[in-house]
Amino acid sequence: EDGRTFCGSCLAGGFAIANATPVQPCPRSLMPSSELIVASHPLVQHKVSLLRRKETPTADFRRLVNEVALLLAYEITRDLPLEAVTIETPLTPMQTNMLAGKKVCLVSILRAGNGLLEGMLDLIPSARVGHIGLYRDPQTLRPVEYYYKVPSDIAERPVIVVDPMLATGNSTAAAVARLKEDGVRDIKFACLIAAPEGIKTLHDAHPDVPIYAAALDDHLNEHGYILPGLGDAGDRLFGTR
Ligand code: URA
Repeated sequence: EDGRTFCGSCLAGGFAIANATPVQPCPRSLMPSSELIVASHPLVQHKVSLLRRKETPTADFRRLVNEVALLLAYEITRDLPLEAVTIETPLTPMQTNMLAGKKVCLVSILRAGNGLLEGMLDLIPSARVGHIGLYRDPQTLRPVEYYYKVPSDIAERPVIVVDPMLATGNSTAAAVARLKEDGVRDIKFACLIAAPEGIKTLHDAHPDVPIYAAALDDHLNEHGYILPGLGDAGDRLFGTR
């Protein structure tokens, strides 16, 4: 027990997931060596385990997603710029730091991405929020945009794209490409569970986009579900199916 967990693609070892630090190079897997940050805090791991259990009811599932989303937001906003300001406490003036620059914009990939918004907004209440809707064309199997609404000045903001499950990675890569078309340069991606296949797709298309996940799973099944995963995140969040 040295506190390390191992990549699903190379269970034999060698893939240390540090506590919210970039992972070490994975010698044999699909995984790029950097830009995956797994928030392996004990509370995150505990809550993700509860999320995975098939008997977890909708209300608990939603609450747990909110809690994990807040903890992910804490990690992902670690490098927000600060500026020195002078304030007055009830006793004395002081120099302190406050956030600088344009407010963050969260961009939800519909519909399951909406499940991550509430928890993140609890931590960053002044964030702006955009939405991207994509469906998979049955012929080409490529993502097609059906909805896009973001702040007009999104190009000047740090953007966090959210979707609970990074499975094939196709819709995330398409969403990031769409935001780049709009001039966005500072993009991060946050999910609950990432699969190696999705990480590879997103990293190959957008190596500049760091991926924050609450857990790294083994692989996709033949239906594109993450294993072991937690099932369909949208259905479990909204009580559908
Ligand atoms: N989307 C989900 O909701 N779950 C998966 O396992 C994969 C994609």
